[in-house]
Amino acid sequence: MTDTLTPVLTDNWDAERSWTIESYEAQGGYEALKKALTMSPDEVITAVKDSGLRGRGGAGFPTGMKWGFIPQDNPKPKYLVVNADESEPGTCKDIPLMMASPHTLIEGVIISAHAIRANHAFIYVRGEVLHVIRRLQHAVAEAYLAGHLGKNIHGSGHDLELVVHAGAGAYICGEETALLDSLEGRRGQPRLRPPFPAVAGLYASPTVINNVESIASVPSIIAHGPEWFSSMGTERSKGFGIFSLSGHVTHPGQYEAPLGITLRELIELGGGMRDGNRLKFWTPGGSSTGILTEEHLDVPLDFESVAAAGSMLGTRALQVFDETTCVVRATLRWTEFYKHESCGKCTPCREGTWWLVQVLRKLEQGQGSESDLDQLLDQCDNILGRSFCALADGAVGPITSSIQYFRDEYVAHLTHGGCPFDPAASTLFA
Ligand code: NAI
Repeated sequence: MTDTLTPVLTDNWDAERSWTIESYEAQGGYEALKKALTMSPDEVITAVKDSGLRGRGGAGFPTGMKWGFIPQDNPKPKYLVVNADESEPGTCKDIPLMMASPHTLIEGVIISAHAIRANHAFIYVRGEVLHVIRRLQHAVAEAYLAGHLGKNIHGSGHDLELVVHAGAGAYICGEETALLDSLEGRRGQPRLRPPFPAVAGLYASPTVINNVESIASVPSIIAHGPEWFSSMGTERSKGFGIFSLSGHVTHPGQYEAPLGITLRELIELGGGMRDGNRLKFWTPGGSSTGILTEEHLDVPLDFESVAAAGSMLGTRALQVFDETTCVVRATLRWTEFYKHESCGKCTPCREGTWWLVQVLRKLEQGQGSESDLDQLLDQCDNILGRSFCALADGAVGPITSSIQYFRDEYVAHLTHGGCPFDPAASTLFA
């Protein structure tokens, strides 16, 4: 079974002081950069396009295609921004990557900036994770000292200044246009798209924004070639990714594997369900993708198969819940998060998430009637697709999917006058 793991990004995580430049270079680090600098920017873009790499931040947009959108005839400066504002509930892959191997990301930044002809790059890190910010700042300083950053990198004529920027801890700042507003010093709120950042992004200039894992995947593609990368994964979801297994499994953690692996295989790799309990529900990519159930254990975790199962691959944040969990309580908890994090710019999200919490609280306490359930679904219908950005759509996902799969459990709260869920009687909703 362990043959299914493909450690590339996670390969050096166990090395001694893996975060230092000495350790990284001792394992071949920065060799891909040297190779990339012998290639033209367009050749690098073509390699990434041919690899089939799709954005690892959740949406799965083809990375090379995004880079190709940068208009090279635009005289304005081009910018590269790494979205390191990882905050989706359950998502916890970028932070360990930056802690264990910050130079993989930095090498990816330098190669990617060369490809899109950017001389300025930013890593926008979630504000709460001070330890990550310090580690990145230290690694960036090491890279400058080694001549990987700055003027005329390794005699290539390419210049790059890299800044690590700390956000202030708002979930909305992971939305790419809110991130740009925040980076420009304004309150982080989403902008209308189009124009997409590739055309008018940071300081209204062409900007590529990519997730940490997407950029960190670039050095391996350059080192081993696009065919190596595209030989892994599935027909339309190429390569490998970090799957974050959390919750009621024996060994939660980061499992790097080809796209298309199943949750059943990952749970097995994670030592099985906690206490031998039965799986009840799980998220394929953080709570915003909604929940799936035991019947989806063998769905290949690639973009197409998860979509066909009615969800989204998202960030591959596999939160696993066993039979002792109340799905109504879990859904309420997620919804409270989205309500708290709504930036308030648009009415469907600001007012809608507040109402969702009110109705869910009532249901969870066993008050109200079944018509409240229908009202909840009606509210979801009025929010979905009507908000400024994807935050409110994400808030709706866990509610609609939990009612789809566990309507009986909602009704049981009403007939019971509160949460009927008793771990000792965990077969109640089996
Ligand atoms: P999106 O599909 O609208 O865009 C994805 C990317 O492709 C963006 O960079 C966008 O600029 C680019 N793009 C799309 N169409 C384009 C076009 N015609 N021209 C140029 N560029 C184009 O998705 P969005 O709203 O950026 O992200 C939503 C995803 O974020 C969700 O799927 C969710 O899984 C994920 N997410 C991740 C979080 C995390 O912590 N990693 C937090 C919350 C959500």
